[in-house]
Amino acid sequence: MLPRRIRSLLFAPAVRPDLLRKMPATGADAMVIDLEDATPSDAKATAREELRSAVADLSGTIPICARINDPSTPWHHDDLDSLPEGLDAIVVPKVETVHGLDALERALEARGLDVPVVGGIETALGVADARALLSHPVIAAGYFGAEDFIADMGGVRTHSNHEVASARSQVALAGRVARISMIDMITADFTDDARCRRECEEAREIGYAGKLCIHPAQVAIANEAFTPSIEEVERARRLLAAYEDAKAKGIASVAFEGQMVDEPVAAQARTVIALAEG
Ligand code: COA
Ligand code: MG
Repeated sequence: MLPRRIRSLLFAPAVRPDLLRKMPATGADAMVIDLEDATPSDAKATAREELRSAVADLSGTIPICARINDPSTPWHHDDLDSLPEGLDAIVVPKVETVHGLDALERALEARGLDVPVVGGIETALGVADARALLSHPVIAAGYFGAEDFIADMGGVRTHSNHEVASARSQVALAGRVARISMIDMITADFTDDARCRRECEEAREIGYAGKLCIHPAQVAIANEAFTPSIEEVERARRLLAAYEDAKAKGIASVAFEGQMVDEPVAAQARTVIALAEG
């Protein structure tokens, strides 16, 4: 089963059986075997074989997802036909249209595939229509793909992330409207731990539940960043105690450690506690 909350979703190319076998030991909340971007065009058939073999070997050790090629590619239907039993989710990249999702739903049904779908919002059209796409019944969770999005925009990817700020927020918002769990973009530079940590913090602040990871070093960073710290939880508990105490005295707005606390601030503290309690 796919966990309800995924803090770290670790990718590896289907054509790297060596990496796939290492994924259960990384501590990732779930792994993705990638048939799409990380598999070259001339290796799609081999990749499907590696997918079957990896699922057979790893089933039961970690939740396993397969990312297939999107419906506009010549590989999409063969990918669907070759999916093995035992997958916890299918990741569908570059989700763009509601009629495309209707077709995906029918294609899964026709093959008897009753598996949750994680939809990737990573094109200009996908971001523009994110609310309708992420609210589609076939979609169980979603992710924001910054690299493909900027490629589609004809923009430039930067360290500051200013070029993706608006789309990243819009996609988080659309996921929230759909009441699904959202996973934030990759950090391509897997040697830059500070950038990865900063991006995880930003993502959590705007409502993402986790991060796409491409390297084991990013998994521990994401798992920590998307879990409230002990200090955060203790502060939330003190804040709520002060707030409840004030409410009992007929006041709904109270000073707490130099900050005004009212209902929305209390609601944020409850979210911290709920996250910490899983
Ligand atoms: N999953 C599992 N293990 C991985 C891994 C991954 N995605 N990426 C690296 N590792 C392992 C390496 O095999 C190595 O293991 P070892 O200590 O037993 O030798 C260890 O982690 C350290 O790896 P490192 O040497 O730092 O990196 P690398 O040069 O081997 O690999 C990449 C770098 C980017 C090629 C590799 O991380 C990768 O392919 N990532 C996934 C890319 C992907 O799927 N992209 C598409 C989705 S956006
Ligand atoms: Mg991509």
